[in-house]
Parts: sequence; C-alpha cells; structure tokens
Amino acid sequence: MRITEKFKGPEETVRQIAYIEKASVYVKELSRKLGRKPSCCVTTFGCQMNARDSEKLAGILEKVGYALTEEENADFVIFNTCTVRDNANQRVYGRLGHLNSLKKKNPHMKIALCGCMMQEPSVIDKICQSYRFVDLIFGTHNIYKFAELLVRMFESDRMVVDIWEDTDQIVEDLPVERKYPFKSGINIMFGCNNFCSYCIVPYVRGRERSRSPEDIIAEIKALVSDGVVEVMLLGQNVNSYGKNLEHPMTFAQLLKEVEKIDGLKRIRFMTSHPKDLSDELIQVMKESKKICRHLHLPLQSGSTRILNAMNRHYTKEQYLALVEKIRGEIPDIAITTDIIVGFPGEEAQDVDETIDVIRKAAYDNAFTFIYSKRTGTPAAAMENQVPDAAVREGFDRVLKEVQDTARARVGLLQGQVLDALVEEVNEQDQSLMTGRLSNNTIVHFKGDKSLIGQIVPVYLKECHGFYYLGEIQE
Ligand code: SAH
Ligand code: SF4
Ligand code: F3S
Repeated sequence: MRITEKFKGPEETVRQIAYIEKASVYVKELSRKLGRKPSCCVTTFGCQMNARDSEKLAGILEKVGYALTEEENADFVIFNTCTVRDNANQRVYGRLGHLNSLKKKNPHMKIALCGCMMQEPSVIDKICQSYRFVDLIFGTHNIYKFAELLVRMFESDRMVVDIWEDTDQIVEDLPVERKYPFKSGINIMFGCNNFCSYCIVPYVRGRERSRSPEDIIAEIKALVSDGVVEVMLLGQNVNSYGKNLEHPMTFAQLLKEVEKIDGLKRIRFMTSHPKDLSDELIQVMKESKKICRHLHLPLQSGSTRILNAMNRHYTKEQYLALVEKIRGEIPDIAITTDIIVGFPGEEAQDVDETIDVIRKAAYDNAFTFIYSKRTGTPAAAMENQVPDAAVREGFDRVLKEVQDTARARVGLLQGQVLDALVEEVNEQDQSLMTGRLSNNTIVHFKGDKSLIGQIVPVYLKECHGFYYLGEIQE
C-alpha cells in the first residue's frame, strides 16, 4: 500500500524525491540487464519503530522500481537491525553469512545494513573487516536519505558507509509501503532521553524529538482515506510527547485530536513509561471510544532497589499504585509489561519482589528478558554482574509466574462476545482467520479472507493460554 503521492514540503523532501528519480534510472538499467523487474527484500529486527522504518525503506524501494518479496535471495536485501540485546546482534551476523553465499550465486545482488546496530562503532569496524561483501551501511538518523544513499551505492564499486551521531531533522512526506492495508504505525516522536542504565536505545536513536501534531494528524488522515482503521502511535516514551515542541502539548491532548479523525476506528500507542503516565491520560483513555483497552506499561523490575539502579524513577509501590488507579478507572483494560531478569546486583529477594508485582498487577501478558550487557551503558560497567545460573533460575521463576497469571487473566473473557479487527489468515490452519480484540488478545475463528480489515463481533469460546478460539457472530 503506497501513500503520500503529494510530495510537497521542505527542501529535504524535494531533494530526496529527486534522488528517487535518479535511483530509478539505475534500477531500470538493472532491469534491462536481468530481463525482469529486480526484486528486493527488507528484513526487520527489533521493535515497532524499526518495523515502521522498514515500511519507509520499502516505500522508496518500490518507488525506484524494485518488486518487494519476502525471499532473501532477492537482488537487493536490506537488514534493518536491532541492538537492544546481544542475541539480536548475533542473529544479524548469522543471517549475513547466509547472504554472502547467496551473493556469490547472484553477481547483481546488493546487500545493505541499517538500523540501531549500525550506530555502534564496534559493529561498523567488525563489518568493514569481516563482511566486506556488504554494499551499503547507514544508521538510524539518516534513514530519510535512503534514496540518496541508493544512488551513491549504484555509483560506487566500494562499500558505502554513512553513519551520523545524531540529528534534529524530521523529514516528512516520503513514500511508505505498508505491510497491512488496514492498520499502521505512526511515529509521533523519535529518540529517548531517559537513559535507563541498562539500555542502549538513547545512544543509538539519539535525543527525544516530537513530530508536530499537524504532521501527525495529516498523516493519519491520509492513512484513513487509504483504508486504515487502526493506528499505533509510536515512541520510546509516548508519555513525554510534545515537551520539546514550539507549542508544547501533552500526549493526552494529542490523543484527543487523533480521536476526532472521522473513519478512524481504533487507536493504540507504545510505549508508556510509568514515571510519566498522567491522570489526564487515564481520563482521556477512559472517555475515549477509539483508544484500545490496552496499556503496555514496562515494569522492568519489582524491586525498588533495582529500579533505582536502573534509573527508572519509580518505586515498586508507586508502580502498583498506578496500576490500581488505572484499573479503578478502566476496569476492562489489559495491562502488559516488560521485565528484565539478571540486572547487576539482582538477588533472589529482588526476583521475589518482581513476582509479587506480577501477581498484584495481574498482567495479561509480559515479555521477560534476560539482562544483556550493552557496551557503553552505565550498567555494563557495574561490578556485580549476576552469574548465569542465578539469572536462569530467576528467569524461570518469573516466566512461570507470568504464564500462570496471564492464563488466569486472559481466561476471564471466556463466553463474552467482543469486537475483533480481522488481521490475517491463520498461518497453521488456513480455514481460520486471526483477529485482535481491543485489549490486544488474539482470537482465531472460522471465516474467509474477505473479512480482513473489518471489525467483527466474535464469541470467545475456548481460552488457550494467551489466545482464544472463537466463533464469529452474524
Ligand atoms: N522504551 C521502551 C522499551 C524499549 S526496549 C520502554 O522504556 O519501556 C524494549 C524492552 O527491552 C525494554 O522494556 C526492556 O525490558 C528490554 N531491554 C532493554 N534493554 C535491555 C537489556 N540491556 N537487556 C535486556 N533487556 C533489555
Ligand atoms: Fe530504553 Fe528506558 Fe528509553 Fe525505554 S525509556 S528506550 S528502556 S532508555
Ligand atoms: Fe531495537 Fe532499536 Fe527498537 S535497538 S528495540 S530496534 S529502537
């Protein structure tokens, strides 16, 4: 799905549009050589923000004349990387080895790397030394220059590397190729200023900057007129949206504006930092007809001592009081979370505290991560790193608690009829469709493809842990 044909706006957008034209000439040439349209594959690692960036990359690739495919033996392959935990990096290196063997068979193949991992100098050194077959490398701050970089790549016979340390630029109105026709992520802000002591994101995504509400609303309106019914507003900490705007505005105020957009049916957002979640936001959510009954509220740890060392700016008690307040105001809300096990200095009692919060907060789902040491973060330099065996033990205890709590919580919906947005055909069983409830729970039910993109009432028949089997109500 392509939008924004309206290429107006600031100088930089105009420059990039010119590069799109220029790159198309090279792609046409390649097309003549191959005797077919060249193919391209965008592989995304990491979070929703990266997924949205990949749609922007795909939009440009489509525009310059590539045919998008999911196959990695394409004529152009780009990995949009993540570095939040070391296993994300390892997966990229593993997959790169495979790409090398594909490139040996296809001399026209081009390989590009971008995203968060590329903002780390040690990664660039390693790729320049050991992965010479890569054609183009760029980072998170200059992604809007992708068309220009493509041209440089076509005009060079050496690896093109362009990494910026930071940027204050936000470039609007470039093409985007959406993965789903009926739902879309929308960046409302970039970067992060929180510097949680374990986290590399502020170093690789730069300082926090908010997009103007006018640009956000205009983008959502354009999406809605192109068939989108659900948007997900994206930022590392959406609750601090608008603070650095020329005319400051709160996230709750932005939500109220988004709510007014005719034709838009559902609004989601990610991620909320507990320290900045306002009463105003709770009220706006409560009164809204469109904001989904789901809040992702990362806990990270239930131990105040560890939270302090993590630089999270809240205590166990404050977090629980916040959850209680939200549940008091919006009883049907689902709350999900992120938890890290094995942060430096964490002991069995700290894990007990985390488990206590899981029970009390009654999460509908929780993503549990093993602490990963990220070079350059304050936590990486802490001396009291936890031994692997202790981390494993804590992780297993937390995971079991999360599973039990979530099963009980999700099970409460059994027998209800709730609206689901139909998203896709079930991968395992083609006779089933997969839909998502307002509270983010997944339900599978008999139906056909024509329902995709529609919101339909579904009877929740059987709970299977995190998801339901249901029946559509005519
Ligand atoms: N901005 C979001 C989270 C972005 S990263 C927020 O503040 O909630 C997504 C999740 O990855 C985090 O919530 C955290 O649980 C996890 N994470 C971040 N750094 C990590 C690290 N070094 N090791 C393990 N998990 C980490
Ligand atoms: Fe990382 Fe903390 Fe920023 Fe989230 S809020 S991206 S965890 S530094
Ligand atoms: Fe990963 Fe970057 Fe997102 S490090 S989690 S892709 S912001």
